[in-house]
Amino acid sequence: MKIALLGYGKMGKTIEKCLLENQEHQVVLKINSGNRNSITKDELRTADVAIEFSQPTAAIDNIRYCFEAGVPIVTGTTGWYDQIESVKQWCSEHNGALVYASNFSIGVNLFFELNKRLSLLMKPRKEYEPFLTEIHHTQKKDAPSGTAITLASDLLINSTTKSRWVNIKDTPPHSKAANPDELIILSRRQDDVVGNHSVEYRSAEDRIEIRHEAFSRDGFAKGALAAAGWIRNRKGCYTFSDIMESI
Ligand SMILES: NC(=O)c1ccc[n+]([C@@H]2O[C@H](COP(=O)([O-])OP(=O)(O)OC[C@H]3O[C@@H](n4cnc5c(N)ncnc54)[C@H](OP(=O)(O)O)[C@@H]3O)[C@@H](O)[C@H]2O)c1
Repeated sequence: MKIALLGYGKMGKTIEKCLLENQEHQVVLKINSGNRNSITKDELRTADVAIEFSQPTAAIDNIRYCFEAGVPIVTGTTGWYDQIESVKQWCSEHNGALVYASNFSIGVNLFFELNKRLSLLMKPRKEYEPFLTEIHHTQKKDAPSGTAITLASDLLINSTTKSRWVNIKDTPPHSKAANPDELIILSRRQDDVVGNHSVEYRSAEDRIEIRHEAFSRDGFAKGALAAAGWIRNRKGCYTFSDIMESI
């Protein structure tokens, strides 16, 4: 598979490292902010799939450019999901192909399923207060993380006490939300943390917690590569959870 790396930072380089371990794959383009505007659609078409890990303000433009060039795209960039409906419409108009996910790690996607199951079990247990925490490296631009938003959104579907999430940065855990119907996401930034997420439910008597910790970026890269192989000959707009059982 020939891959264009749209975004050649921490994730782009990790994907390249994982690609080089497999002789069947080849990186044909490495794109960052410096050369993005000089890349033509013809050049982009030398790739079978583009894998996009750039930044929130760049992702939408990159996705659209791939649709226009007719190149399937996998994007892990977060922080743009408020525009997902426009992206789905462009995908349909251009007969494009996209897989997007707030997290491409298989482990995190299993964690998403655990979170949904736990939220169902907790549905009648109003004495438990839910609370989310995410910790990432200090260069991360968006907060809360896309992964934390996915966890919060899935939890809220089954919650009878919370109706929306609020983000609180770097304050002590278990501080009170302004309104009792708000689910707190605590976002913390610490050097060299790849990505930690926890979901906890606390009552006066005890605490239940599920937690995921990424040891490296390799899990995200391997999931994105698997998604690239899957979308290569398909059309349409998918999330990683749509395809996880088939990869
Ligand atoms: N979904 C997941 O599994 C997952 C996992 C990890 C990270 N992420 C997300 O992926 C994104 C990238 O993470 P990262 O850690 O790799 O960030 P990073 O190290 O800051 O790298 C970002 C890269 O994007 C490039 N870039 C900036 N503007 C661009 C543009 N218009 N077109 C193409 N490339 C452009 C940057 O180039 P310059 O250096 O020239 O500015 C840099 O190479 C973030 O949104 C992060 O939250 C998602």
